[in-house]
Amino acid sequence: MSLAKQDPAYKASKSLDVDGKCYFSYSDIHQTICSLVPRIKEFDPSVIIAIGGGGFIPARMLRTELKVPILAISLELYDDSTNTARPEVKKIQWFDENSDVGSKVRGEKVLIVDEVDDSRATLQFAVEEVIKCNEPAAVCVAVVHNKRKEKKGVLPPNVIYLAGEDVDDKWNCYPWDAAAYGNSIVEHEKLAKVCSGVAEGRD
Ligand code: G4P
Ligand code: MG
Repeated sequence: MSLAKQDPAYKASKSLDVDGKCYFSYSDIHQTICSLVPRIKEFDPSVIIAIGGGGFIPARMLRTELKVPILAISLELYDDSTNTARPEVKKIQWFDENSDVGSKVRGEKVLIVDEVDDSRATLQFAVEEVIKCNEPAAVCVAVVHNKRKEKKGVLPPNVIYLAGEDVDDKWNCYPWDAAAYGNSIVEHEKLAKVCSGVAEGRD
């Protein structure tokens, strides 16, 4: 039996985990980010800015419904070579304003998309950089998951913040990272079913 997304039992079921980690399927991600579409349509963005790599696939899922183009940016808080947090967020990739899509930011409404709001440090940096460098008329942030925890980052006032779902402060495993956890996508999706309580493994 599958539970409706709005059903409190469904939301509670998401607190299940496998070895302390919560696995999410492509379908989970799709449903959760697209549950924000009505509110995003009210905001009416001209363009999506996806924060890579986690924001790319949720942004693509939204694009089909919002019918606006996607720009990509990438930032790095952790230095993968040393596995430690950098003193400041590093800008790895930005968009070119002198392009057809890049020109849709200045003076327009932009939607910034990421997969998870964890410490909020990267998100704060991304939003502040877009405002400072590209001067949009308005910013809305949409994340798939917001971790219930104390945040280090603060979003500027007037930024609209939307989270598809509030989740426990556990490590979220996303389907595009399946191989990073040693799983095929089929194995990953099975673990996601366990975490959502619709497969063997739930009491
Ligand atoms: P925040 O502003 O979005 O809260 O991000 P924060 O700086 O706290 O997080 C640093 C990196 O850690 C981000 O990825 C974020 O996506 C990732 N992260 C935080 N919590 C989780 C989690 O539970 N699961 C996974 N899979 N990632 C998490 P990044 O460095 O931008 O890398 P990526 O998006 O390219 O993977
Ligand atoms: Mg990320």
